[in-house]
Amino acid sequence: MPDNKPTRNLALDLVRVTEAAALAAGRQMGLGDKIAADQAAVDAMRLVLNTIEMDAVIVIGEGEKDEAPMLYNGEHLGTGNPPELDIAVDPIDGTRPLAHGQWNSVATVALAPRGAMLNPGPVLYMDKIAVGPEARDVIDLDAPPAENLKRIAQAKGDKVEDLTVMILDRPRHADLIQAVRACGARIRLIPDGDVNGALMTAWPASGIDVLLGIGGTPEGVIAACALRCMGGNIQGRLVARTPEEEARGRELGYDFHKVLRIDDLVASQDVFFAVTGITNGDLLRGVDYYGNGATTDSLVMRGLTGTYRRIQATHHLDTLNRISGIAY
Ligand code: FBP
Repeated sequence: MPDNKPTRNLALDLVRVTEAAALAAGRQMGLGDKIAADQAAVDAMRLVLNTIEMDAVIVIGEGEKDEAPMLYNGEHLGTGNPPELDIAVDPIDGTRPLAHGQWNSVATVALAPRGAMLNPGPVLYMDKIAVGPEARDVIDLDAPPAENLKRIAQAKGDKVEDLTVMILDRPRHADLIQAVRACGARIRLIPDGDVNGALMTAWPASGIDVLLGIGGTPEGVIAACALRCMGGNIQGRLVARTPEEEARGRELGYDFHKVLRIDDLVASQDVFFAVTGITNGDLLRGVDYYGNGATTDSLVMRGLTGTYRRIQATHHLDTLNRISGIAY
């Protein structure tokens, strides 16, 4: 029997980061100001991340695509002591839904050993297929949607008509939606939030069997960390929006044809992931403020063990506002 002692589960540190981001950004629900919401989440995340005993460098940052407040790629976070890690942040996945007071806005963060995460550079979009554990070995992004749906249904002991496919509601997905409809599978169109969507494919009884379509590359890497922990799978292919973007990507060595496997997105099982609900959602409850308190609902996961925990926390905001640098 191995006599290795259990090692530190950094996901339990990360949940304080996503809780802080959710508590700070949750105040912005429905106020129509995406930038203010992002700023609140980014500031809270940075403050708490810098208390964690680690030397983490941001590989997946925040800001470029939406010109939002930044956690800069290349920025170092943590106390500067080992372990050396890559960090991926998405302080708000679903900034628009949060600003409009809609569902499924979450705060997420992931860690992996240094060098393990794909650095998407300037390539902001990726075609994706994500599934839970039962269908992890049958997906192939090179195959048409009909073939993937047939295989997923078979792996799950379902008919294709039983499957529900989650797709971001974007004009670019018109052909994909038509192809899925032609197979007879059901569709759930989402306005935003494909990290949450990818998580749902692996969450028992979420009702979502597969996520398909083009979303953010950073979100793809974060989802890969979560799906590694949950035993699911994700594949991606980088997508350029313009010939200039493709030329720039190629110059930097990015391949727009290659199917990126989960190992290409994050090349280690030693990953940590945390997510906290900001607005109410399918998986997680949003932040609920009352009197001098608030509650949060989070998931924390570790790839090495596959343990995932749901943490429902009660926060005393009057106390926190006295002792912390974050305005809750
Ligand atoms: P942000 O809230 O971080 O802006 O991301 C929301 C999101 O819906 C992601 O979940 C998704 O990957 C991406 O945006 C899709 O990009 P776009 O809105 O440009 O189609």
